[in-house]
Amino acid sequence: MCGIVGYIGAEQAAPVLLDGLDKLEYRGYDSAGLAVFDGEKIQIAKARGRLKVLREATHGGEKLPGFCGIGHTRWATHGIPSDRNAHPHFNEAESIAVVHNGIIENYLKLKKMLETKGYKFVSETDTEVVAHLLDYYYKGDPLDAIMRMMHRVEGSYALGIIFRDHPGNLYAVRKDSPLIAGQSKTGNLIASDVPAILKYTRDVYFIKNEEIVCLTEDGLSFYNVDGEEIEKEPVTIQWDVSAAEKAGYEHFMLKEIYEQPKAVLDTLNPRIRDGRIEIEELGMTDEEIRAIRKIYIVACGSAYHTGVSAKYVFEGLARIPVEVDLASEFRYRNPILDDGTLLIVVSQSGETADTLAALREAKARGIKTLGIVNVVGSSIARETDKVMYTWAGPEIAVATTKAYSTQLIAEYLLAMKFAQVRGTVSQDEIDEMVNDLKMIPEQIEMLLGQKERIQRFANRYIAAKDIFFIGRGLDYAISLEGSLKLKEISYIHSEAYAAGELKHGTISLIEEGTLVAAVLTQEELYKKMISNMVEVRTRGAFLLAVTNVGNTEVEKAADYVIYIPKTNKYFTNSLAVIPLQLFGYYVAIGKGCDVDKPRNLAKSVTVE
Ligand code: M6R
Repeated sequence: MCGIVGYIGAEQAAPVLLDGLDKLEYRGYDSAGLAVFDGEKIQIAKARGRLKVLREATHGGEKLPGFCGIGHTRWATHGIPSDRNAHPHFNEAESIAVVHNGIIENYLKLKKMLETKGYKFVSETDTEVVAHLLDYYYKGDPLDAIMRMMHRVEGSYALGIIFRDHPGNLYAVRKDSPLIAGQSKTGNLIASDVPAILKYTRDVYFIKNEEIVCLTEDGLSFYNVDGEEIEKEPVTIQWDVSAAEKAGYEHFMLKEIYEQPKAVLDTLNPRIRDGRIEIEELGMTDEEIRAIRKIYIVACGSAYHTGVSAKYVFEGLARIPVEVDLASEFRYRNPILDDGTLLIVVSQSGETADTLAALREAKARGIKTLGIVNVVGSSIARETDKVMYTWAGPEIAVATTKAYSTQLIAEYLLAMKFAQVRGTVSQDEIDEMVNDLKMIPEQIEMLLGQKERIQRFANRYIAAKDIFFIGRGLDYAISLEGSLKLKEISYIHSEAYAAGELKHGTISLIEEGTLVAAVLTQEELYKKMISNMVEVRTRGAFLLAVTNVGNTEVEKAADYVIYIPKTNKYFTNSLAVIPLQLFGYYVAIGKGCDVDKPRNLAKSVTVE
C-alpha cells in the first residue's frame, strides 16, 4: 500500500528513484511522484496514473537533476487519485518534502491545529499534515523535528524526508509500515521493500518501529525515538535479482504460477529429514504441542483461504479444534483466548495491517503465536513468537499464487507434525503422506502442462457476467480461492459457495449458460457433489468440474472436466488450485485486463 524510495549519493537520484518505484509499483499505482534536491532547490514532479506517465513527464528523470531525492507510488486512501494528492508533499516554503506510506489517523485534529497557526493545505491527504507539522517543529535540527512529529502523529507511517537546509542528508522513519535501508557502491537508499534496492545491494537494514535513519552519501546512522544513536546489523538477502524480474514471461502472475513447483519444493525440503517432519523454527517441545487445545488461524484474503483449508487438515489429522478468522474481524470481536490456545497468523507480505493488529491483540493477551510468513524480516515475522517461513521468493503480482501454494505446504507440515506428536496418526500414515507431499511439485508441473487447454476454455468466458465456484469440505476452501483469483483480476462477479448451501438462496442467480465451476476431490463427498451439480445444471448452468483422475462418472454431470493427479485427500487443494489460477489468469488476459496490477488493489495492504 504505497511504496516509498529514497537515494542520496554520487549518481543522479531521479533515475535511481524511478527504477526503485518500478519495483514497488505493485504496492500502489494510481499516481507517482519524485522530489529531487540539487543542493539549492527541491523540485517536485508528480503525475496521476502509472509510473510510466511520470517517467515520460520527467524524461526518465532528466528534468530533475540532483543527487538526493525521494519517490512515491500511491494507493489512494485520503483524497482521490490526482496530481494534487500524489506525493511528495511540501511545506509552504517548499523547504521540506515528504513521501509517506501508511495512514495518519489523527490528521484531521492536527490539520485543524495547524490551520489555526496559519498553515494552508493544498491537498486532501493525511500526509500533508506531516510536512506542515515538521515545518512547525523545525528549528534547525531535522532529527529533533522528526522526533517531535512522531510524538504527535497517531497511525502508521514510513516516511522519507528531505530538508532544504540539509543538502547532505536524507531522513526516514517508520511506525507500523515497512521500511528498509541499504548501502550501494555509489550511495545510500531507503525503500518500502527489498526488490527496490536489490539491484544495488543485498545487505539490507530492516528499520524497526519508531526508528529513524539518516542517510548521507557515505553512510547511514540509526536513532531511536529519543534521538539516541543505535547500532544495526544488515541482513543479507539471498534472493536472486532475477527473482524479482519477469524473466521473459508476459506477466509476473504467470511467472509466479510457473514458479510453484520450485516454491513448494523449497518450502518442503528443509522440513523433511530422513522421511521425518522436522520444523526446527517451531521451537515447541512435544509437551507444548500436546498441550494445545485450540488453534486460531487468522489472516486476510488468500492467506485466509489457506487457513480455511488448514482447518480441515488440522482437525482431520491432529484432532485439534481450529477456528479460522478474518483478521479484520478477529481483532475487534474479543475472542476467547486461553492458555491452551495457539494463534497462527498467515501472511505473504508480513505487513498486512489487520493481520498484524490481530497478532498484537493476541500477544497482549499472552497467547502463543506462530507466523507463516514469506517476507523475511517483515513486521509479522519479527513480532510472532516463532516464524515458519514459506520460501516462495519475491511475489510481485497482486494476485497471489506461489505464496498461497507455499502457505498450504507449511500448514500441512505443521498439521502432520502435531498429529505425529499427539499420536493421532500412525507413522505409516505419516510416511505415506510425506511421499505424497514430495510428489506435489511434479504433479503441479503436470497440471501446468494443461495450460493451452485451460486457456481455450477460459476464452469462452471473457464475456461472462457471473461465475460460481462450488465445493464441499476442502473443496469449498479451494472454491473460495478460485473465485477470488478470477474476480480480482478479471472483474467478473464471482462467488464461492459450499455446494450444499446453494439452494438456500444463491441458486436463484443461475441462468441459462451461467458457468459453475465445481470442485470435487473429496471422495466421501463425491456423490453429494454430483447431486449439487445436477441441481444447477437442470437450471441451465454450464458445468466445469475439477476432480481426481479416474472419477470419470463426473462426465455425466459436467460439460467440461479437468482431472488432477491422485494425492492424499488432505493435499488436493495444492493441485486443484493450479487450473483455477490458470483459468482466472486467462479469462483476465482475454479481457485485456492488467493482471499484475488490477484496479483498486495493492499487493501489500498496510492500512485497515
Ligand atoms: O500479504 P498477505 O498474505 O497478508 O495478504 C493478504 C491478502 O491481502 C492477499 O492474499 C490478497 O487477498 C491477494 N490479492 C489475493 O490474491
